[in-house]
Amino acid sequence: MSKKVVILHGSPRVSGNSDILAKEFKKGSEDAGNEVKKISFPMRFINYCKGCLGCVSSGECVIHDDMSGILEDMVDADVIVFASPIYFNTISGQMKTMIDRLTPKARQLNDKDYYFLFSAASDNQKSLEPAVCELRGFLNCIGVESEKGIVFGLNAESEGEINHNENALNQAFEFGKNS
Ligand SMILES: Cc1cc2nc3c(=O)[nH]c(=O)nc-3n(C[C@H](O)[C@H](O)[C@H](O)COP(=O)(O)O)c2cc1C
Repeated sequence: MSKKVVILHGSPRVSGNSDILAKEFKKGSEDAGNEVKKISFPMRFINYCKGCLGCVSSGECVIHDDMSGILEDMVDADVIVFASPIYFNTISGQMKTMIDRLTPKARQLNDKDYYFLFSAASDNQKSLEPAVCELRGFLNCIGVESEKGIVFGLNAESEGEINHNENALNQAFEFGKNS
């Protein structure tokens, strides 16, 4: 059965390494017959959460920006993919800013399959543990036991360098195909 897949791409580099991984996942998932939407944050306006917690009772955010559309797509999805560069061993600030804005609909996001795609300059997978913990922390808060898969796109500093990491590209494609 065809699924709805949303890929959230949280890098300021429009066509950078995490975007290349996101595109591989998308190709694999579309090959499997799924409907895939890739949302790149540089193309969207996502403000910081104000911390007012008004959304906890109203279910709506007081900020009117692109986040409301992104949330609708996420609630509607079967599969959600976080594609982020590694910044100081964890996810990008752009990705974290988006995650904080999920609060209004967080309770409607616990029935999805989740995948993480990371790109990093490092050759040491262990150094990416804080990023894994960060995203697992979010899943834990919304009641999702664990992610379905993680791609560690290592050895990729300059734009496009991930193309030399065939393992990571293949894994992203295969996760997409099985998503
Ligand atoms: C602010 C900043 C911090 C970074 N910190 C790390 C780091 O801690 N570990 C690492 O392996 N790479 C680090 N990098 C490199 C990026 O993770 C790497 O270039 C990644 O492939 C970028 O993905 P993108 O092309 O999708 O933006 C950092 C890059 C920036 C801009």
